[in-house]
Amino acid sequence: MRSITINISQEPSYEMSEAMNVLRTNVSYSGEGVKLVAITSVDENAGKSVISFEMMRNYANAGLKTLLIDADLRKSVFSARHGATVDDGLPFTGLADVLSGKGEINDAVYKTNIPNAYVLPVGNYVLNPTPLFSGKLFSAMLDVLKKAFDFIIIDTPPLGRVIDAAIIAPNCSGVIIVVGANEVDYRQVNDAKNQLLRVGANVLGCVLNKVGQENTRYGGKYKYYSKYGSEYRY
Ligand SMILES: Nc1ncnc2c1ncn2[C@@H]1O[C@H](COP(=O)(O)OP(=O)(O)OP(=O)(O)O)[C@@H](O)[C@H]1O
Ligand SMILES: [Mg+2]
Repeated sequence: MRSITINISQEPSYEMSEAMNVLRTNVSYSGEGVKLVAITSVDENAGKSVISFEMMRNYANAGLKTLLIDADLRKSVFSARHGATVDDGLPFTGLADVLSGKGEINDAVYKTNIPNAYVLPVGNYVLNPTPLFSGKLFSAMLDVLKKAFDFIIIDTPPLGRVIDAAIIAPNCSGVIIVVGANEVDYRQVNDAKNQLLRVGANVLGCVLNKVGQENTRYGGKYKYYSKYGSEYRY
C-alpha cells in the first residue's frame, strides 16, 4: 500500500477532542452498522473538511481502522491544508482517477503517518465530477472499502452549491450536516435535511460548528444534535 505523510503538528484542542468523542459516541448509537458516513453542509465554509479530518483522527485514535475519502472533487483542500506528500514521490492517484477508470483503488488509498488513519484523496482534476458518483463504480468501490475498514468518512461539497452530496449520501449508512453557527438560517438547514431525506439518505444529525470561536485556541466548540432535535452539550 502507498503511504502519505501529513502535517500533524497541530494537535486538536481539548474542546475539539471532547467534541469528537461525543460525536463518535452519538454516531455509534445512531444505528447498528453505521460505518460509512457522509459529511455535508448547506453552504461553503461550514467546516466539513475540518470536522471530517478530526473525525478521522478521533476514530483512528480510538483504534478503529479509519478511511477519509475526499469527495470534494472541485475544491479539495486536503493536500494543501495538511501538507500531504506521497512517500514514493509518484503522482497522486485518487478518487477521480478510480471513478473514471484511470486508476486502481489499491493505488489510491494511502496509509498516513497517523496510526489507523487512511486517506483516499481527490486525485486528478476532472471537468464534471457529478456523473462519477452516480455510476456503478462508486457504489462498488464503497462496498469493497467497507469490508476493508472499520469506519469511513466522506467529505463532500456543500448541498447548496452542487448536487454531489445528495448523490453520495444514499450510498452511505448516514449523513451529517455541518452547520456554521450563525451562518445559516434554520430553514436552510431544514431544506437541506429534506433534500437528503427525499433521496433516501439517513440523516443522522447536525454538527453545530464554530460556536463561541473567540474563546478557544482552535476557534471552535461543537455541539451535536440528533435527528430528534435533542442537544448534547460538552
Ligand atoms: N471550529 C472552527 N473554528 C474556527 N475556524 C474553523 C472551524 N471550523 C472550520 N474553520 C475554518 O473555516 C474555514 C472553512 O473550513 P472547512 O474548509 O473545513 O469548511 P468546508 O465546509 O469544508 O468548506 P468548503 O465548503 O469550501 O469545502 C477554514 O478556514 C477553517 O479553518
Ligand atoms: Mg471542504
